[in-house]
Amino acid sequence: MLEIKNITKKFGALTAVNNLSFNVQKGDVFGIAGPNGAGKSTLYNLITGLYPFEGSIRFNGQELRGMLPHRIAKLGIARTFQIPQTFPSLTVEAGIGIGNYFGSQDGFDSSYVDQILKFVNLDKKRNHKTGQLNLLDKKMLMIGAALATKPKILMLDEPMAGSNSKEIISLMDLIKRINQDMGIAIIIIEHFMKVLTELTRKLLIIQTGTEICCGDPVEVTSNPKVIECYLGSSGDGQITTSENSNSEIHIGEKNAEKNLTGSNHAGGK
Ligand SMILES: Nc1ncnc2c1ncn2[C@@H]1O[C@H](COP(=O)(O)OP(=O)(O)OP(=O)(O)O)[C@@H](O)[C@H]1O
Ligand SMILES: [Mg+2]
Repeated sequence: MLEIKNITKKFGALTAVNNLSFNVQKGDVFGIAGPNGAGKSTLYNLITGLYPFEGSIRFNGQELRGMLPHRIAKLGIARTFQIPQTFPSLTVEAGIGIGNYFGSQDGFDSSYVDQILKFVNLDKKRNHKTGQLNLLDKKMLMIGAALATKPKILMLDEPMAGSNSKEIISLMDLIKRINQDMGIAIIIIEHFMKVLTELTRKLLIIQTGTEICCGDPVEVTSNPKVIECYLGSSGDGQITTSENSNSEIHIGEKNAEKNLTGSNHAGGK
């Protein structure tokens, strides 16, 4: 369904994405992990048409390179952001409605918006202003707005960041339902190894934009090259159990606190 071939993105002298290739099939849950600055969010920005790049990205046979973001969205590729992005003065219902109005090929459908409000468990808060929502509900709203575009692929950028273990369970349940009940393929960037091994069928590890390894998530996370990539030769601890997140195994961040607060994530990532 999504065929990524030899894509490279340079920002001046920095190669953020270096000759990456992978495929995502219909119904897949595909994971992406790697240390901070590995190029994971940049990869999403390339797939969604935010930056020009070298190489090829095809979606159901159609080349996306050079296509504008709104056209890519209408083809059926939706994404969320590392920091939840909402329109704070709008209601939850309007926030999801906007996704449907601007993103769906079928035009606005209020009954579909109702369906999504229930699916992401926000129907009782439909009249709340999005700016008043807690972090979990903001994430649910952002995922709901993406679902309202009727995507064939949903790309999630660190959906668990800043969440406690109960919230992680709710988000994992939602992601499974999106994949299994709605039949939507998922690409998920995540630092929590347990989330990746439980949810994904294939896992790609990147470091400084380059593929380290790709395959079965359990095999990938025990691959010595991957462990080296996280631990480094100095062994400064990147595959670790984060005591701050109820013993979730956690990979890829220099500092567990960043994952809990989301404070490491600059806007626009
Ligand atoms: N618009 C940009 N202009 C210049 N450099 C950029 C831009 N966007 C990203 N970068 C750089 O590209 C590299 C990859 O950044 P990216 O945000 O993709 O990493 P990431 O893997 O998502 O990291 P994190 O886990 O911290 O979210 C970083 O060195 C970053 O500073
Ligand atoms: Mg990122």
